[in-house]
Formats: sequence, C-alpha cells, structure tokens
Amino acid sequence: MTKAPHQPVQGNEIPGLIYEINEIFTPSSPVGIADLFAGRTKQITQLISAIAEPGRHAILYGERGVGKTSIAHVIKFWIPSKNRQLLFHRKPCDPSDNFSSIWKKIFRDIHFEIGHGDDLKTYSVDEIYKGDISPYDVVRELKNFKPNDVPVFVIDEFNEVTDAETSILMANTIKALSDEAVNATIIIVGVADNVTQLFEDHASIDRCCEEVPMPRMSTTELGQIIDTRLKQLGMTIDADGRMKIIVLSRGLPMYVHSLGKLSATRAIYQSKKHISEEYVDKSIEEMLSSSQQSLRTKYEKSVYSNQPGNLFREVLLACALTKSDDNGFFVPAAVREPLSKIMGKDIQIAQYQNHLNSFSGDDRGKILFRSGAERQYRFRFKDPAMQPYVLMKGISDGFISNNLNTILSFPQQPDLFSNAK
Ligand SMILES: Nc1ncnc2c1ncn2[C@@H]1O[C@H](COP(=O)(O)OP(=O)(O)OP(=O)(O)O)[C@@H](O)[C@H]1O
Ligand SMILES: [Mg+2]
Repeated sequence: MTKAPHQPVQGNEIPGLIYEINEIFTPSSPVGIADLFAGRTKQITQLISAIAEPGRHAILYGERGVGKTSIAHVIKFWIPSKNRQLLFHRKPCDPSDNFSSIWKKIFRDIHFEIGHGDDLKTYSVDEIYKGDISPYDVVRELKNFKPNDVPVFVIDEFNEVTDAETSILMANTIKALSDEAVNATIIIVGVADNVTQLFEDHASIDRCCEEVPMPRMSTTELGQIIDTRLKQLGMTIDADGRMKIIVLSRGLPMYVHSLGKLSATRAIYQSKKHISEEYVDKSIEEMLSSSQQSLRTKYEKSVYSNQPGNLFREVLLACALTKSDDNGFFVPAAVREPLSKIMGKDIQIAQYQNHLNSFSGDDRGKILFRSGAERQYRFRFKDPAMQPYVLMKGISDGFISNNLNTILSFPQQPDLFSNAK
C-alpha cells in the first residue's frame, strides 16, 4: 500500500522511488504508455477517424517538441482490438531519405511466407525491390493486407527530407491509396506551421487527408502530466509550485517533465513525498545549470554586449513573456508591456525595435526568427525550447521576481490560463 504523502520516506524506499520517477518523467523521450499520455482529445479523435475511414489519411504537424511523436506512439492504444489486428509501423526520416528509402525501411518490417511445411520461408517485402520504389509498388503491396488488419504507417520527421520529389511522390501515393480505398492509413508527421510547409503541393490530397495541427499544450493538459505521475508515485505538490512548473513551460511538455522530475527527486532525497514550492525553485536553478550547453551558448551569444546599460537581456526576456499566437509568433508592439514591467518604466517601441531586428540576424545567432514584410514583422523564438530557458534565466538573474503572482501578471497569462481549471 502507498504511504500517505506526509509520512517520511524510509531510506530503503528511496532507490525504488527514484527509479520510478525516472521511468515516468521522460523529458528526453516520447510518451509510449496511454495512461501517462495527457490530453490531446481533439487530435486523437481526428487521427482515429482517419484510421477508421477507408481511403483517409492524416498529416500531423506543429512546432518542435509539442508531442507529435508521442501521440503517434499512443494512438495504437485507442484502436478497438476486437476482431481487428493493428499493424503499426513508425519510421523516422532523415535528410538522406527519399521516397524509395522511406518505403524500403517500411517494407523491411512487412513479411510474407512462401512454401509449405518444412520448406516454409519468411521474406520481407523489401527483398523484392532491388531498385527504386514507385507509388504504384506501394499501393500494390499495401493492398495485400487482410480485411480485418488495420495497417497504420507513421512517417515521422518528414520535414527532415530534403529531396524535393519525395513529397510529390508521397502525395501521389496517398491519392492512389485513397482512390482504391486501400485499408491502410498513412500518417505524415513533421515540424511545420502549416501543411504547405510539409507538402508544397498538397492540393491533390486535401480531400483525403485529415489535417491535424498540434498546438502547444494547454494549462489543463500540462497539469495532467504532473498530476497523473505524482499520483502514481503517491506524491503531492504545493499548488503554487505546480502552477510555476506549468507557467514556465510555455506549453512545452518537455519542461514539465524536466522540472517535475527534478522537483520530485529533490523531495524524495529530503525523505518527503510532498513537493514544496521551494523544491520547485531549486529545480529551476538546477535545470538552468544543467541545461544543454547549446542553449546556454546560444543565449549568451544573443544577449552579449560590452556596452553598459544595454537592454539585450531585458528585451529577450520580454519576448519570452509576450503574448504569442498558436505558432509562437508575436508582434513588436506586444513586447512593450512586459518590457515596461521589467524596466519599471514606460518603454516605447523605438527603444527596442532594433534589438528585435538584431536578434534575428547572424551576429546574435538568429535567436529569433523574423517573418513578414517590413513594418509588419512578426517574430518568434527559432527554437521553442529557448523560450522557457530565457524565462527561467530571467528569474534566476533577478530581472523579474520569482513570485508566482509576478510571473502571472504578464500579458500572456490571461490567454494561457483561459482554459485553466
Ligand atoms: N500528451 C503528452 N503527455 C505527456 N507528455 C507528453 C505528451 N506529449 C509529449 N510529451 C512529452 O513531451 C516531450 C516531447 O514529446 P515528443 O518527442 O512526442 O514531441 P515531438 O513534437 O515529436 O518533438 P520533435 O519535434 O522534437 O520531434 C517528451 O518529453 C514527451 O515525453
Ligand atoms: Mg518527434
């Protein structure tokens, strides 16, 4: 039986609990267990509908690290298994891939048998194809599944493919599979703001493809990540500490996993099953010092200046606090309010417009990506993971108070918390 959270943890329980914490908080890997997968009801429903409907396929896209691979992994748990056999294959792409190499990887996993009795031999489909594979070959092979098979092919990291022909051939394949009502489903997954970025010429497959955008996670969903895991560990957390983890993560689940794991570990080493806000604060410090070297180097390069009184750190922090759209973009005017709060005085756009432009230039490592025409520029963090880092660094460097109320008073928060329970 699990002990109540207020009872001290015995020394001999510590190793087991640490093991469990590391098993269920997974900042470096996708979630593979349905029970530990939080939220995403809308996206799951869209994907399940595409799998169930013959001739329908899906394109799943969103920012880096929002949980695309995780949903692709757990989707199999939602497919009813009665009288059906799910055949699930997921293949990640890399820059050296093209249409043939992607399908060769998949064909390697599909087997067929020839012969009888002792002469029965198993082959993989890729052994048949010595040369290039065409859309026609794919359709022919995918037609061979039994009526009660549910074959699902997830082609992940499709944005990594550089070969221009691949997306045209993939679109042709999807169209042909759909026209012939083949009962296999293709799910294309990739980092993109919209479908066009993944499939330049996607018009031909618009009608047979479910478009599934993956936004950043809502407050409720991020809270679920913490709650289900702590419940499993028999642990609890201060309401403010929990909210701090959620707010600092900026909708990116990886940070909830990292801060949750560090905070829970810290509590267990103190023989506590309750995580106080103080443990969360210490974990933020720990996370900053152990953060990937690449994040630290990029941050320092972007804010470096030998001019005393320069505002690079403050402006970048204001950008991390600024209200952004679903794809992480913000307009320069939106930076004004958080920057004025950080500076404790009213700041005009003209005082920081050049900073924003310079953040998107080579000298400052292009920490921000700039889009749109002059006078209508929009910006966003090139690497979404940088945004929580900048925010935590701002707190740690004393630019904003660590107090939850201060963080919550910044302009993004009313929206971020619009669906909070
Ligand atoms: N629904 C979820 N519930 C709990 N944790 C999640 C969920 N979705 C993602 N995560 C966690 O978030 C992190 C990123 O997930 P994942 O690798 O699936 O994202 P991704 O969008 O595929 O990333 P990339 O763009 O780098 O391929 C991982 O730590 C994963 O465990
Ligand atoms: Mg992924």
